[in-house]
Amino acid sequence: TLQLAVMASGRGSNLQAVIEAIDAGRLDAHVVMVLANKADAYALTRAKERGIPAVFLDPKAYGTREDYDRAAAAQLRQAGAEALLLAGYMRIVTASLINAFAGRVLNIHPSLLPSFPGLHAQRQALDYGVRYSGCTVHFVDEGLDSGPIICQAVVPVEPGDTEATLAARILTEEHRILPEALQLIAQGRVTVTGRRVEIQPAQ
Ligand code: GAR
Repeated sequence: TLQLAVMASGRGSNLQAVIEAIDAGRLDAHVVMVLANKADAYALTRAKERGIPAVFLDPKAYGTREDYDRAAAAQLRQAGAEALLLAGYMRIVTASLINAFAGRVLNIHPSLLPSFPGLHAQRQALDYGVRYSGCTVHFVDEGLDSGPIICQAVVPVEPGDTEATLAARILTEEHRILPEALQLIAQGRVTVTGRRVEIQPAQ
């Protein structure tokens, strides 16, 4: 069972999808703690409702992002986490956090990376005029949405789409591929060579 920590900044619908996949037996994981950088992150409420330890760690209490990440890593490791999921966590993470999990840090991003990294990925896709966008689950490195890609899903951009309608279409796919990617990790089927992620077939 994968001992998983989750960091979030807001709504937490991806956290919810992970919890539901665990409940449904589709994901062999246990969420040991949810940590947010926003006091009012709804992800914290979802965690508490499920009896999952929920922590608000205030960035204002730390001088640098490294200090913050070191404190976050200490709490999450203390809780028994062996992997970390960034689920709508809207900050760049530093080596303090990545190294604490030996590279087992994952992020979900609402575009087909390497297109449209950073904030407002759905708006970036609309403004660019692409016909397809989607979402990406990837390992986190020190760059902006730049680590090795584990899985992606594609959605069409429809005529008349707004940022909200496109985001909703993408979000449905996020909720599908995120638990799938985590299950591959939980099963030990993922290896990384340079930029390339290899998925071993199921036993
Ligand atoms: C999701 O669409 C996620 O892909 C995105 O924020 C949303 C969080 O929703 N993440 C990023 O843009 C990261 N740069 P949620 O809080 O309901 O899971």
